[in-house]
Amino acid sequence: MTSAKIEIRRVGVEKILDLRHRILRAGLPRESARFEGDEAETTLHFAAVMVEPSGQARRQAVGCLSLMLNSFLAETAWQLRGMAVEEAHQGRGLGRELLAHAEEAAASENDAGLLWCNARLPAAGFYQKHGWRTVSEVFEIPTAGPHVKMSKRLKGNPR
Ligand SMILES: CC(C)(COP(=O)(O)OP(=O)(O)OC[C@H]1O[C@@H](n2cnc3c(N)ncnc32)[C@H](O)[C@@H]1OP(=O)(O)O)[C@@H](O)C(=O)NCCC(=O)NCCS
Repeated sequence: MTSAKIEIRRVGVEKILDLRHRILRAGLPRESARFEGDEAETTLHFAAVMVEPSGQARRQAVGCLSLMLNSFLAETAWQLRGMAVEEAHQGRGLGRELLAHAEEAAASENDAGLLWCNARLPAAGFYQKHGWRTVSEVFEIPTAGPHVKMSKRLKGNPR
């Protein structure tokens, strides 16, 4: 039997809302998984989807992240938001693959040279492993726990 493989695709936000809700907003209303900026023209959503040998993608995403164009420390920057991997798929390199895909997309989409995010404290080590630096003290986000701000300079942008 040939099994499904995982592909990372650019998607509409509807494709990732269930996963965001389950992993990042568990116990809260489904609407809490919608973020301001989700519908902005510049926002990019990516999903890891299971693709059948026929080429048909399964409906549910197993990993997701979004990139929103805004500014950080007075510089145009991409904000990474809603990074989540389905529990059963965690620890298999999917997060790394999604992050690498997003960084490539961010670098090619426009000339913003910086990525930033509000990282959940338990996930900060994941970002650090992929070249991100912690740039704030720990702070609390109500309903989501302790966070730190992290950033990463995109390749080819030496500032
Ligand atoms: C954090 C998360 C996105 C990582 O995705 P993942 O697919 O499980 O991670 P990967 O398997 O790609 O891990 C890549 C590397 O990072 C490491 N890593 C993964 N999660 C880590 C963590 N929380 N802390 C430190 N290192 C971590 C892995 O050990 C692996 O290291 P290796 O290259 O030495 O083998 C995922 O665990 C998740 O969705 N967690 C719950 C939601 C969450 O916290 N999201 C982030 C919000 S800011």
